[in-house]
Amino acid sequence: MQPPFLTSAPAKVILFGEHSAVYGKHAIAASIHSLRTYLYVTSTADNAITLNFPDIKLYHTWESSSLSKIPSPSASIKIDDTIDQQVAEQIQNLIRESNIVDPLHTNAAFCFLYLYKCLIPNTSSLKFTMVSTSPIGAGLGSSAAVSVALSYAMLQLANQQTNKKLINKWAFVGEKCIHGNPSGVDNLVSTHGGAILYKKGTEAKLLDLSNNPLEILLTYTKVPRSTKTLVSNVRQLYEIYPDIITPVLDSMDSIACKASHILTQNEPDFQPIASLVDINQGLLQSLGVSHEAIAKICLLSEQLHIGPTKLTGAGGGGCTLTLIQDSTNLQKFKETLTNTYGFDTIETQLGGDGCLLVSNDDLNGGVIKQLDKLFEESKSNKVDRDIIDSLLLPGPNQKLPWK
Ligand code: MEV
Repeated sequence: MQPPFLTSAPAKVILFGEHSAVYGKHAIAASIHSLRTYLYVTSTADNAITLNFPDIKLYHTWESSSLSKIPSPSASIKIDDTIDQQVAEQIQNLIRESNIVDPLHTNAAFCFLYLYKCLIPNTSSLKFTMVSTSPIGAGLGSSAAVSVALSYAMLQLANQQTNKKLINKWAFVGEKCIHGNPSGVDNLVSTHGGAILYKKGTEAKLLDLSNNPLEILLTYTKVPRSTKTLVSNVRQLYEIYPDIITPVLDSMDSIACKASHILTQNEPDFQPIASLVDINQGLLQSLGVSHEAIAKICLLSEQLHIGPTKLTGAGGGGCTLTLIQDSTNLQKFKETLTNTYGFDTIETQLGGDGCLLVSNDDLNGGVIKQLDKLFEESKSNKVDRDIIDSLLLPGPNQKLPWK
């Protein structure tokens, strides 16, 4: 497909099974339709590739002559999901030579360049601009949404027959560039949307939660953390105490399976779900991935009788989810979280669309002008979420023909 065009992918929340998913245990995850990453691909006249990612302040242009010096991953490697270490090393050298040093920047640039070398190594004169309405590095799957949006766009540029399986496959490769050894749950739910029961290496089961809208409040602690580091800390613990950590991971597996059974009943009883949230948080704490900010939210939700809280995503800060069993003190809960602790609360519906595209054929001159303006502005000023949503958010009142 010729530029300009747009891709988009949603954030996600893990209800049960973070960390244990990495060890092949079940996890339940759902997309968050309204928190999305948008990627706008446009043509340039400079025989170069430009990446603008204003949310993390990453701006870089690579001349096509410097990109063509790096070999493409071998065909055999492209068939499975492994990373070609020789190519990876040369990309890392280029990133260093480009003076990109911040770990957030190096990870994003590595993901972008590796997918570029795999999928569209011979293209140039392109600009990729990304904006996101989801907090970055918060445990809500922002990196997976970036990988999915990039993988979808590059498959379009490669004129490949695109389907969700292929988009997810390449998004998983992108996630590996960022996180090392991810389970694949984040990219899968961001690609497909909705809610899923996931187990690495097996076909995911789509969960219909429409009969059972869980009332959940997400809280963003704003404590920065690295998924890669947290996953590797758990791995160390597992390697030192395999006989102790294995039963913890097995318990997490049973929690996800039991919860999926309860949530898909016609009239589920939420009391057991509340117990499972509590137990899961206790187990995550035992793996060392909780944080004092998370503990404060757990305590407050208990004191105000809102319902149980657990971390969601990799932990170490990031976001929590609170199951709202009683909303009598909800306002007070939210005010305390914001005013006393400086956290953000995020009210949102779970589920909804996965990755989407607005193709070149569906964009007219007027809309292209609006898109150019919004994405250009995002480079110098943080554009308000309302403004991004009003032009880009898919849904019943959408302005763009997302498919
Ligand atoms: C991160 O959102 C979830 C983790 O389980 C890592 C993964 O599944 O790849 C911590």
